[in-house]
Amino acid sequence: MSGHGTPIPMTSHRADPLTGIAEVPGDKSISHRSLILGALAVGETKISGLLEGEDVLDTAKAMQAMGAEVINHGGGNWSVHGVGVGGLAEPDHVIDCGNSGTGVRLIMGVMATSPITVTFTGDASLNKRPMARVTDPLALFGAQTVGRSGGRLPMTIVGAAEPTPVSYTVPVPSAQVKSAVLLAGLNAPGQTVVIEKEATRDHSERMLAGFGAEITVEDTDEGRVITLTGQPELKPQVIAVPRDPSSAAFPVCAALITRGSDVLVPGIGLNPTRAGLFTTLQDMGADLTFENMREEGGEPVADLRARYSPDMKGIDVPPERAASMIDEYPVLSVVASFATGKTMMTGVKELRVKESDRIDAMARGLRANGVMIEEGDDWWAVTGLGPDGVPGGGTCESFLDHRIAMSFMVMGMGTQKPVTVDDGAPIATSFPIFTPLMTGLGARLETSA
Ligand code: S3P
Repeated sequence: MSGHGTPIPMTSHRADPLTGIAEVPGDKSISHRSLILGALAVGETKISGLLEGEDVLDTAKAMQAMGAEVINHGGGNWSVHGVGVGGLAEPDHVIDCGNSGTGVRLIMGVMATSPITVTFTGDASLNKRPMARVTDPLALFGAQTVGRSGGRLPMTIVGAAEPTPVSYTVPVPSAQVKSAVLLAGLNAPGQTVVIEKEATRDHSERMLAGFGAEITVEDTDEGRVITLTGQPELKPQVIAVPRDPSSAAFPVCAALITRGSDVLVPGIGLNPTRAGLFTTLQDMGADLTFENMREEGGEPVADLRARYSPDMKGIDVPPERAASMIDEYPVLSVVASFATGKTMMTGVKELRVKESDRIDAMARGLRANGVMIEEGDDWWAVTGLGPDGVPGGGTCESFLDHRIAMSFMVMGMGTQKPVTVDDGAPIATSFPIFTPLMTGLGARLETSA
């Protein structure tokens, strides 16, 4: 868990050219799902390339507390002996999901249709985030919830002893909500239907099919209609987790804004529901190429090559692309600061309920470093200062948000004066090797303990 210890201030000084190979860790979304679905299968699921960040480790502990046997074999290799759909045990202590919205929301879904009671908590960031978006549909299955005001953690969920399947239209574009409903549907008899108006990351659908569940996806005028047949026997899988495009975003964006850089980021998952940032960077004129395109474990994968790009231009990022790059807006706003002209980002209200209010957090930090930001409820705009024009010299708050901390560390690689964050500790939630990986490429990061 992050955010419980002493803050670790970090400073990023103008970097040498970034060169070399950046092997980023496994995908966070797929890592959580591998552990959770592995815990529901009958037999042993083997996972390689699991992200060993705090968020995922908290999910591993939770699955263990609910009866699965989760074993770390070292080097990113894990195994999970599952208990079967409907076989989860009631944990004998509070489940602490640390900083992880994905962890808590998916685990709420998975237990909500079993006759067990679970109390959830998290760190100061997670305990501020809205949970009603998940507990509302879980109530339709028959689960009961008692939490703090505003639907916040800590919260206790009493799972439905006799769940009924539901048909639910997800009111916000959220893969976590969609996945929570699908995972709850696993232990409800009959068909659970989830409708999403905007496509969000589809790892749950792909992985449920991989584990042998009966699941169909149809594109209709109403949106994507996902139908899952409950109470399947899930078959254990061998899963190779692809590297995380959301983590790849940091070395890629750092190379684009740091003079003389040329960085290869191999083996990145490019599922179209995740790859919006890379299209946006190319639209801005970034020298970013996809090499060695291939398919691994049912997901498109490529090696990304990013070179210093002093001629990038601000663009209007299409709102329909938002879901496919929702975690990447903070670092995009950094790149936009080094482009020429204005970058307009619309349809991004969800940024306000992430690990922090990411529009507010980035706006404050970018302003502290001399960049002009305009913002509204569901949009923001960055006026670029060109490749050598960003002053820097500011200290930014990371608000217990890993992606805010990493974005400002990337920013300092190209600014005139160093950029500081008050607390880099949250980086360990998703990218525990961020500092050695970036310094290995040529970044100058300084950590004061
Ligand atoms: C995730 C979904 C997204 C994303 C998060 C991971 C997932 O959240 O921001 O980092 O693995 O399902 P929302 O569902 O809130 O959009």
